[in-house]
Amino acid sequence: MRKPLVVGNWKMHGELASARALALAVRHAEGHCVGVEIAVCPPFVHLGGVLEVLSGSEVASGAQSVCEFEGGAYTGEISAQMLRDLGVRYVIVGHSERRALFGESDAHVLAKLRQVQAVGLTPILCVGETLQERQADDTEKVLARQLEGVLDAPDAAALLADLVLAYEPVWAIGTGETATPQQAQAVHAFIRARVAGAGPLRAAALRVLYGGSVKPDNAPQLFAMPDIDGGLIGGAALKAADFIAICVAARARLGLA
Ligand code: PGA
Repeated sequence: MRKPLVVGNWKMHGELASARALALAVRHAEGHCVGVEIAVCPPFVHLGGVLEVLSGSEVASGAQSVCEFEGGAYTGEISAQMLRDLGVRYVIVGHSERRALFGESDAHVLAKLRQVQAVGLTPILCVGETLQERQADDTEKVLARQLEGVLDAPDAAALLADLVLAYEPVWAIGTGETATPQQAQAVHAFIRARVAGAGPLRAAALRVLYGGSVKPDNAPQLFAMPDIDGGLIGGAALKAADFIAICVAARARLGLA
């Protein structure tokens, strides 16, 4: 049984006080979400404050990115080790905004993933196609390319050992347009089948999250799909009530919501 996971990606929103208040609201609701793993990913500078609020709770913290290098003269960067020292559990790598706006290539993303795993944290690797790629019927080709760095690596089994994947169709991120549950399920099944080629046992245990305009009203249908193990939530993660409703919806995967 794959434990459902719901992750809030707060992006570059909020102030320290609002970040702490949001974390506190999520913390207070964790009793309604038993069986669902929850993580929140504030901006780097709010991580310390959020971790303080979450101390002693089951709600985990994640970072939205990380440096691809271990350490050294890289002005402005944050290393995986620094995140681990803070008490972070997850690190998002390869979000489409990082790929599109900050020039991160598949090679950069793989280097980041390796840094995260090297210090014992869990990467959440984002993959997804643009609208143009979907319309050209290239979705599977694009996803295969985004995954090949991990799946074709000589140490693929080790890379897969502690990894979460997130399917985030770029056309659905922040647009209010969601993949239908059937569209998302088809891609999730494709992803799991690709992973099975490199690690059959691991594929069955791998959590594949869906991200892209998940809201309280569409979460139940998405989470009812057999291969959707939770969500990576952007906009709706900034409203405590919406995020909590999405976490509660994920309990349906346990037969509980
Ligand atoms: P969204 O963002 O829920 O606002 O579409 C998802 C994401 O970027 O992870």
